[in-house]
Amino acid sequence: MPTQTSQMDALELLESQHDDVEGLIEEIENADEPDLKQQLFEELADNIAAHSKIEELLFYPAAMAEQTRELLHESTEEHLAVKRVLADMVELDIEDPQWDAKLCVLKETIRHHARDEEEGELFPLVRKLMNKDELQALAGEMTRLFLEVLEEEPRFSVKNETQAAAPLPG
Ligand SMILES: [Fe+2]
Ligand SMILES: [Fe+2]
Repeated sequence: MPTQTSQMDALELLESQHDDVEGLIEEIENADEPDLKQQLFEELADNIAAHSKIEELLFYPAAMAEQTRELLHESTEEHLAVKRVLADMVELDIEDPQWDAKLCVLKETIRHHARDEEEGELFPLVRKLMNKDELQALAGEMTRLFLEVLEEEPRFSVKNETQAAAPLPG
């Protein structure tokens, strides 16, 4: 988890959370012990759930503009795809042979969404739309909500968000 979030702007914060998520996935892939794997997965699932929440409630609405609208709607659909796999994984036994297959799908979906779509396309547009002060204020808000959501073991709520993509203004 990022510790020096106060110095980061919104885009740097989200990127550092993407790094954390990818790091955790790698650790899970390398974990041979089921108990350790389960523990790392719980951390991963809570982190993905809290990250999605701050994007959907704070970042995407703040980034909504004519230039970003299509990408943002695509993003919430990609979140939906991630949540569906994640909800399956929360319910499935970690030693089930399908579990590792779902981890691969999760990893690929997240890589495409976070690295290609968000960091590659959306963030450069947002950097032109919002100034440094706005991005720093947004980072503060997102950090507070992230920590608040994380406390509530949000992995158990993901299943309730698998019917439809999160609503967006505009
Ligand atoms: Fe996202
Ligand atoms: Fe993200």
